[in-house]
Amino acid sequence: MEQYSDFAFIYDELMNDVDYNGWIKYIEEIIEKENVKVQNILELACGTGNLTIPLTKKNYDIAGIDISDQMLNVAREKAEKEGVELVLLQQDIAELDFDVTNLDCILCACDGFNYITYDDDLENVFAKSHELLKDGGLFIFDISSHYKLSTILGNNMHGENRDDISYLWQNYFDDEQNLIEMELAFFVKDANGKFDKFEEVHQQRAYTEDEIIESLQISGFTDIKVYGDFTFEKPKKDSERIFFVCKK
Ligand SMILES: C[S@@+](CC[C@H](N)C(=O)[O-])C[C@H]1O[C@@H](n2cnc3c(N)ncnc32)[C@H](O)[C@@H]1O
Repeated sequence: MEQYSDFAFIYDELMNDVDYNGWIKYIEEIIEKENVKVQNILELACGTGNLTIPLTKKNYDIAGIDISDQMLNVAREKAEKEGVELVLLQQDIAELDFDVTNLDCILCACDGFNYITYDDDLENVFAKSHELLKDGGLFIFDISSHYKLSTILGNNMHGENRDDISYLWQNYFDDEQNLIEMELAFFVKDANGKFDKFEEVHQQRAYTEDEIIESLQISGFTDIKVYGDFTFEKPKKDSERIFFVCKK
């Protein structure tokens, strides 16, 4: 089953412990620290709009792109309920095609780029982002660290048993290709109290900081800062989320 198809409908429930407000605060701190005037934002791999919708409410002009129609449909439903107007496009960011240029900021949050597993595709989306930004514009994104994918998630089984949704998550890490394959099995309670099972297989690439920096440089970025775990400090060996802040 494709990534983020049926999973889209329970994604928000399983992510309910993620502090998206704190995430937005951190992004706004970065913008302030970089001293860039940001009005328009292109968000790559925007998913169900957990950043897109609150950022729109803060009066940024946002367009979101995601490969999964199901994730975008959840975002559309939420936006409609909250009376928010969003521009959402279904697209593979490896072949990013967007016709507005001179953008103030491009964002990709919550490890969207780990899903881009080929060097050429990563360089392509970085180069296209460079092209779309205004001079001085910001490219802000995070990845799950190599340490997290290889050591914490890699070759481990994770699971959670909630009242309405349970899941099992079996991971295999290939340390030659630096790829993690995640076999996800979900059990979701239906209206009659019975559990429906569905499965998805996700694949992510574990990038080192140096690999990302090299791809950014090949793609034209020269001013690159790297932070660990929602701080303004360099990542530590055991940082799980690595943030990259690049100015065109
Ligand atoms: C972990 S979710 C993050 C969603 C959202 N950014 C958030 O913070 O909740 C990863 C997202 O990346 C999207 N994605 C994966 N590969 C993609 C690709 N090649 N092009 C566009 N989106 C992609 C998935 O559909 C999914 O919505």
